[in-house]
Amino acid sequence: MDHRPEARAKNDTFCIPYYLEVAMRFARALTLATLTAFSASCQSKQEAQPAAPAPAAAPAPAPASDKIVIGHVGSMTGSEATFGTSTDNAIKLAIEEQNKKGGVKGKQLVLKTLDDGGKPEEAAVAATRLVTQDKVAVLLGEVASSRSLAMAPIADSNQVPMITPTSTNPRVTKDGPKTRPYVFRACFIDPFQGTVMAKFATEKKITKVAVFRDVGNDYSVGLADFFTKTFQELGGKIVVDESYKAGDQDFKSQLTSIKNKKPQGIYVPGYYTDVALIARQARELGIKVPLMGGDGWDSSKLYEIAKGALDGSYFSNHYTDEDPSPVVQDFVKRYKAAYGAVPDALAVLGYDAALVAFDAMERAKDLTGPSIRDAIEQTKGFQGVSGVITLDADHNPVKPAVVLGIEKNKPHYAATISP
Ligand code: PHE
Repeated sequence: MDHRPEARAKNDTFCIPYYLEVAMRFARALTLATLTAFSASCQSKQEAQPAAPAPAAAPAPAPASDKIVIGHVGSMTGSEATFGTSTDNAIKLAIEEQNKKGGVKGKQLVLKTLDDGGKPEEAAVAATRLVTQDKVAVLLGEVASSRSLAMAPIADSNQVPMITPTSTNPRVTKDGPKTRPYVFRACFIDPFQGTVMAKFATEKKITKVAVFRDVGNDYSVGLADFFTKTFQELGGKIVVDESYKAGDQDFKSQLTSIKNKKPQGIYVPGYYTDVALIARQARELGIKVPLMGGDGWDSSKLYEIAKGALDGSYFSNHYTDEDPSPVVQDFVKRYKAAYGAVPDALAVLGYDAALVAFDAMERAKDLTGPSIRDAIEQTKGFQGVSGVITLDADHNPVKPAVVLGIEKNKPHYAATISP
């Protein structure tokens, strides 16, 4: 949940009639979308594929359109805006490259992106709209676990496959004990990510840790728990477990309680805007120990806001631009040429999620939801930029993680940890 006043002003529309809200949302989506996406939205109204699956025995239905619409739900605005924009940039790049190679099954791909402002309820509205109105073949998104959790039932009930690039909470692909048939991801999951930092801290001889979690964020709560479990199993002690809510501005009382317990490190598995503020306030209180976190730290804004307060800190992530492998370096070059910036993990995984979708659509017997779903489920040994993707029974790839250390207000590769 976003409690920031500016986010509230921008996003809270409960006092506005529903039709106006929809019109506003539509206008916002249009200004954000590319011209290509605009033509896609126009086209998809008359020509797109039916969402209903063909009976299994029937021959592949004749293509209803010469275009394939890909839907993306992302936080293009709000306090996690870099998550959505990096992902969207990378998906656009993937589509452009694929179209140059002839598209998928001879059809060109078009992108329709909807902004959820960083809110789970908006992510659900956006997913519903992409599925029912724009008739997308595949949904890409969301980045954040809380928002993917809101979208997942919509993908399942409409039989439209959804691939989240980066949502790491294990529950995203699960419906209670069973695997959600239409939901997949391109990244590792948090039981592993929590273990990565627990092992790393233990190797650094850090044995007393304070946990500081965002209680309104499924990702943060899950990762804090997974870290705690492994860290304790490895003999470490959690000296205090404090909480905050995304958008809080003053963290001093929790940080004072943390300081009093004299931890050797503080585990803060939150998103970049809050983490950077927490780091600054910790340093103001004279807390010098490293902060540790997860992939939610990954944003150029982290460093802009922290202004050096995170030097000496560490976080786990999906990729590093220092990886010398040609697949990575080649992608970094192409992304930089397109957007003038080094891609972050969101970009890398947004690109990989799109590629997994294209590969599956190419292999699928037709372009109905159930056929694309079957093909995604069969993804094996797919070479992405973030590593090789083979989906397990829970629709999760098993991939190594990297640990990045922050020095002089910049991230540097520190270690690779394999599952
Ligand atoms: N893993 C985070 C989540 O599940 C999202 C995230 C991934 C953020 C990668 C930044 C980088 O909520």
